[in-house]
Amino acid sequence: MTSQERRRVVGPPAGEPLHTRRSLLFQLLGLSAATAGSALAGGAMAKGRPTGTGSARFAAAQRRVQGPFRPLRGPIPLPSDGLTATEQQRAYARVALSDQLVVPEGFRAEVLMQWGDPLGSGRFGFNNDYLAFTPLNPDRALLTVNFEYISPRPWAAGYQEVMGRSLPFEALRQLLAERGGTVNALALAGEDPLRQPLLAVATAALEDGGIGVAEIERGPQGWRRRGGRFDRRITGLTGLDRAEERLRCSGPAAAVFRRRQRLGYDDGLGDRVIGTFANCAGGQTPWGTVLSAEENFQTHVVDSVYADGSSPSPAQRPFRFDGERLEGLGNPFGLAGNKYGWMVEVDPRRPERLTVKHTALGRFRHEAVAVRARAGEPLVIYSGCDRHGGHLYRFISAESVRHPKDPANSRLLERGRLEVAQFQSDGGGRWIPLGPATPINPLLPSHFARFELPAVLPLPHSDRSQAGVELLRSDADLQSYRQRFHTLADLYPGGGEEQLGAILIDAHLAANAAGATPTARPEDTELDPRTGDLLITFTAGGSDGEGQADPAIFHGPAGESTWPYGWLMRLEDGAARSEQPGGVFRWRMVATGGTPWQGGMGFANPDNLAVDRSGHVWMVTDRAAVNGSADVFGNNACWLFPAAGPAAGQALLFATGPMECELTGPCFDTSDSTLFLAIQHPGEDNATHQPGQEEIQAYTLTDRDGGRFEQLRQVPLGSNWPSGQPGQIPRPGVVAIRRLDGAPLLAGSPATSWPS
Ligand code: FEO
Ligand code: CA
Ligand code: CA
Repeated sequence: MTSQERRRVVGPPAGEPLHTRRSLLFQLLGLSAATAGSALAGGAMAKGRPTGTGSARFAAAQRRVQGPFRPLRGPIPLPSDGLTATEQQRAYARVALSDQLVVPEGFRAEVLMQWGDPLGSGRFGFNNDYLAFTPLNPDRALLTVNFEYISPRPWAAGYQEVMGRSLPFEALRQLLAERGGTVNALALAGEDPLRQPLLAVATAALEDGGIGVAEIERGPQGWRRRGGRFDRRITGLTGLDRAEERLRCSGPAAAVFRRRQRLGYDDGLGDRVIGTFANCAGGQTPWGTVLSAEENFQTHVVDSVYADGSSPSPAQRPFRFDGERLEGLGNPFGLAGNKYGWMVEVDPRRPERLTVKHTALGRFRHEAVAVRARAGEPLVIYSGCDRHGGHLYRFISAESVRHPKDPANSRLLERGRLEVAQFQSDGGGRWIPLGPATPINPLLPSHFARFELPAVLPLPHSDRSQAGVELLRSDADLQSYRQRFHTLADLYPGGGEEQLGAILIDAHLAANAAGATPTARPEDTELDPRTGDLLITFTAGGSDGEGQADPAIFHGPAGESTWPYGWLMRLEDGAARSEQPGGVFRWRMVATGGTPWQGGMGFANPDNLAVDRSGHVWMVTDRAAVNGSADVFGNNACWLFPAAGPAAGQALLFATGPMECELTGPCFDTSDSTLFLAIQHPGEDNATHQPGQEEIQAYTLTDRDGGRFEQLRQVPLGSNWPSGQPGQIPRPGVVAIRRLDGAPLLAGSPATSWPS
């Protein structure tokens, strides 16, 4: 999520009369929980799976979890906490959140790298996200790291200390405030006093984004950083000054970028691009490259496009910095919006290879990516668009894979077909190919009204001389839209590569027009190595006014039409054939977020996934700070879903993060002995924690027998992670987590030695 979507925690400072969150929590408690829960195992019902409804299920759940680690105790009662109802009431009556990365007894977490460390031609960037582990030999490896975005408060608070030089944050903020908060930097005169501070801050912010490759080595104490020849940075400004470093675009949209005549803006770069930013999650290919997903590009460049795929002027996404928000970073550099929002392929072991944006995979708020490469079949790439109402996509290459590890497989990403998922409420679904011949057949606005939700259907604007979106709110409006536009070719006129390129550039709106299901913000996709199923985290149901998850698919345990705590879905895909567009799949929810007494599994807002070599599923959360009801879940966390054994299907709490952070990028070394995690945006809301800066929150919780009780919770404001020193700035960084005995993380795990 971008920092702009976050909300400061509000509450009374310590010592003042309690202003509680009870009204909110009573609302939560009013939700009855009624559906069967969830098992992650591939079979129909995993052993040990809790069954029943809501708090009954909570009560019936196994109390003592055996396994390779003792799950952490979080801030709310969990089925797996091993306590009786009475013990729960006692144990959870007073809780203090910790500004540390907490791991189970017998494990150790060490910081490998952090914001500002030298890396290649630049530095380790801000807000590390996806991590990919590429072994070079048993004791040396590369970590490829995404740097997603800037959290203005901790970034500005720490910049001088980390970089050894200051930036004119305050002068910039004041000058911008005098001009209404935003400015089109491209129009500033050379001598304008705003120009220098604006360029300094925008440059620094884009240099702290993008992708990094860092060499690490294994010593007696585990993995540690070592500089090496593969160390590299690709930032938001790579290629600005050195044309030969510009990124390349492959696929149909490259034809749009090369075209001379266009409705909109021309950046003069043809099919080359300056930089990459908003790099959120990612994936690895069997041939050794890393896919890095450009997610919330719309914060910095223009999102909407014209019918020919060209972008409006960068002036339409002006620069903004007010201390809380930093937006429009592409504006001062004249970056064209249609060149961001792509899947980027980087080869960590071949620094000489140009980094490529593969436009055949579509342009949207890319996050999740999973790669299926089987000899004799087309390459299949799954990806998701993280926005309310965003879609799940699959790309099918035109040619088949011969050898999954062949480095030449990158070319398969250049030609193929993009398809988008349409879910049916009975557990079925089909893939809709996106191309000129695709019929216009959107979901009816009245579909949402049946669930008492506002009708929202964003479609490509019916005035095709305008860029962007039109929100249709009635079935009648939709019928008249369909009378004018029968296929995507009517919306995106032209022919050949340029026409397909325009569709792919506007993939989200084209998919809406084609009838794709609006989903609940897909954050990650992973293939289950045991079953071949696709696991998908949907982080939250809800709406931002421009999109809404389909409540027929995404509903709460008691049928709530809006459920803000997320799901984990298992999707069994059918065949993907390059010569046969479309196909079918089956899907089912296997885990639901929410408190146990609401029918949830105790986590909120699932984000990144990692599946280890035994099939255990690891999941980190990004609880929505914009949604106060998620405060009850405490700090973001890392959960384990054992694949088999007595705890199969349960959510075991493995780690909790420091204050105001998100845990991202879980990945393993080749022996599953180390879990790498990226600690993103510690102190995002309140920056540096100062001694004594805390608030007391009050909650009404429910024990496993349905008894209600009060909790007082001590919550530090801001963070000092990782130093832990009072008054020290927080810094995003990557940690390596291992067992003190050096064994694989889950040695003695359910899959290996537990009865199953
Ligand atoms: Fe960058 Fe959707 O998380
Ligand atoms: Ca997220
Ligand atoms: Ca994410």
